[in-house]
Amino acid sequence: MTEKKMQSGQSTEGMLDYNDNSSAQLQLVRLLSPLVRDLVHSMSPPDTEFKIMDYGCGPGVNSIEMVKPAIEACLEKFAKTPIVVCHSDQVGNDWNTLFQLAAGPEGYAQMSKNIRTEAAVGSFYDQVTSPASASIGTCIFASHWLSQGIQLTSAGTVWFADLQSDARQIVDRIAQRDWTQFLLQRSREINAGGHLVVGTLGSVPDASEVNGIAASGRGIYRSIQVVAKSMVDDALISPKSLDSFLFSLWFMTEAEARRPFEENTELRDAFEVIQTTVQPAPTKAEDIFQEHIDDPHTYAQKYVGYIRAFADSTLRTHLFGPNCRTAELLDQLMAEFYNRLTQLYESETNKHACEVWHLVVVLRRK
Ligand SMILES: C[S@@+](CC[C@H](N)C(=O)[O-])C[C@H]1O[C@@H](n2cnc3c(N)ncnc32)[C@H](O)[C@@H]1O
Repeated sequence: MTEKKMQSGQSTEGMLDYNDNSSAQLQLVRLLSPLVRDLVHSMSPPDTEFKIMDYGCGPGVNSIEMVKPAIEACLEKFAKTPIVVCHSDQVGNDWNTLFQLAAGPEGYAQMSKNIRTEAAVGSFYDQVTSPASASIGTCIFASHWLSQGIQLTSAGTVWFADLQSDARQIVDRIAQRDWTQFLLQRSREINAGGHLVVGTLGSVPDASEVNGIAASGRGIYRSIQVVAKSMVDDALISPKSLDSFLFSLWFMTEAEARRPFEENTELRDAFEVIQTTVQPAPTKAEDIFQEHIDDPHTYAQKYVGYIRAFADSTLRTHLFGPNCRTAELLDQLMAEFYNRLTQLYESETNKHACEVWHLVVVLRRK
């Protein structure tokens, strides 16, 4: 197997109906909120202003909820200090929705007149804000997206955890390089005494799995593979397009998350590692849609809604798009794919359960 070429374009642009289909992300935000509050309380007063960065903020509601505990703690601890909330994401993010939410009734703008909202547009694998300017940074359900779309021959699977031999090694190297790069950029942006909190999907050791790890969301990617293969069998898409499609994701184990601090002296000197853990989500870890198990129709609707929200643009651009000459045909193919996926979940429900392990990394900038 060979690495043929990197696709252009961002892997997550244009997330669909995201705010209505991101309860798994919100669960992690709620879990981390007390920690973020405590970290801010433990900090010394900032020189000029207190800047909260949320990296990979997405279209809104969860980013708003993630920065609120930091704002609350800052108002309690450093009452008169100006607060800057800086949401950071790629250019295609739904920025209008985000800023309407921030200023709306459920937003944070009303918490104090002393809050300024900013956006930092760009990839978090690059520098996105001024050096040593951030007091606390958060990054929720975002750092598992690799720096680029990946195209290599990966027959039989659409995701990293089932890759074999050379293909797995190629993506593994990209993932390690990306995680190190992400941390190096944050080490430059977060000021001394500040903190970085990364919460995302993780993997745990599991000897029964092909690569010795069980990765969050196994049921999602394996069911996408099953449905896409059925579309190959029915000559709706070409075998080549499926064999060369891979989600550009990597869900780290604890050991992988820690590795840069063991191997990279710049990072070891920059950060004190407070926590690197991968644990089952505190509720619904075995299936985030478990409350709908007895109602297969709702189960399937929720599951497919969740997948559409984060995967639609990736599937359109990199899997189904190359099979269509017109936008109309692409819409028809996407509709067919979601219909088949819905039927699969309706008939087999929790055979494809969406399991979640949370990876949480907490760092203090020295
Ligand atoms: C699943 S959403 C999570 C959004 C939000 N943090 C939440 O918890 O709901 C992932 C976000 O990461 C962003 N993202 C992915 N790769 C990125 C990159 N290289 N730089 C900046 N943002 C990125 C995507 O644009 C998307 O908004």
